[in-house]
Amino acid sequence: MDVLKQKILSEGKVLSDTVLKVDSFLNHQIDPVLMQEIGKEFAQRFKGFDITKILTLESSGIAPAVMTGLTLGVPVVFARKRKSLTLTDHLYSAEVYSFTKKESNEISISQDFISSEDTVLIMDDFLANGQAVFGMIDILNQAKARIAGIGIVIEKGFQEGGKKIRQQGYHVETLANIAKLSDGNVTFKKEETC
Ligand code: G4P
Ligand code: NA
Ligand code: NA
Repeated sequence: MDVLKQKILSEGKVLSDTVLKVDSFLNHQIDPVLMQEIGKEFAQRFKGFDITKILTLESSGIAPAVMTGLTLGVPVVFARKRKSLTLTDHLYSAEVYSFTKKESNEISISQDFISSEDTVLIMDDFLANGQAVFGMIDILNQAKARIAGIGIVIEKGFQEGGKKIRQQGYHVETLANIAKLSDGNVTFKKEETC
């Protein structure tokens, strides 16, 4: 998606060979116009998949997921990372291990909002090692929901998540796939040059 790649090139900061900072439009300040374009793009790519719900993870997955839900006309559920005061039982939960933080976190959703009747699009802002996506797959398997596919805003194609998820047969759509981060520069994967 060219407009996203241009935004990454103009505003992204390469913090190291593995980390890209995009706080000005996705992870802290949010660019609503860009999010709306992202929502339309995902809706286009997953048109005809009979999606009934979107599942994402708080917090940075919510903005692109809501814009996609708006275009597809379906509700968006976000898994919570912390135990909520009101969300206490009747849950589907999964462990998500963070390689960056070297810790495991439990993510949960209420059983009220996803059922075996649903066909779900999983979404997230970043795909690195894929642990968050596998946690959401685990939750959807518990709910016996169908998984339509995975929509990712920025994939770090040099990490293992995308390969592992595709190897398991899931349909993955990525709007910007990064081949390499080095010397402050972002290189996108060849098939997606902008
Ligand atoms: P890992 O597999 O590489 O260890 O990453 P992990 O899933 O632990 O991700 C930890 C957090 O960092 C996640 O956000 C994830 O989206 C984000 N993340 C991973 N790689 C990058 C990167 O290169 N750039 C940016 N900007 N974020 C990255 P989170 O903790 O769930 O936070 P949030 O959703 O509230 O923003
Ligand atoms: Na995230
Ligand atoms: Na994040």
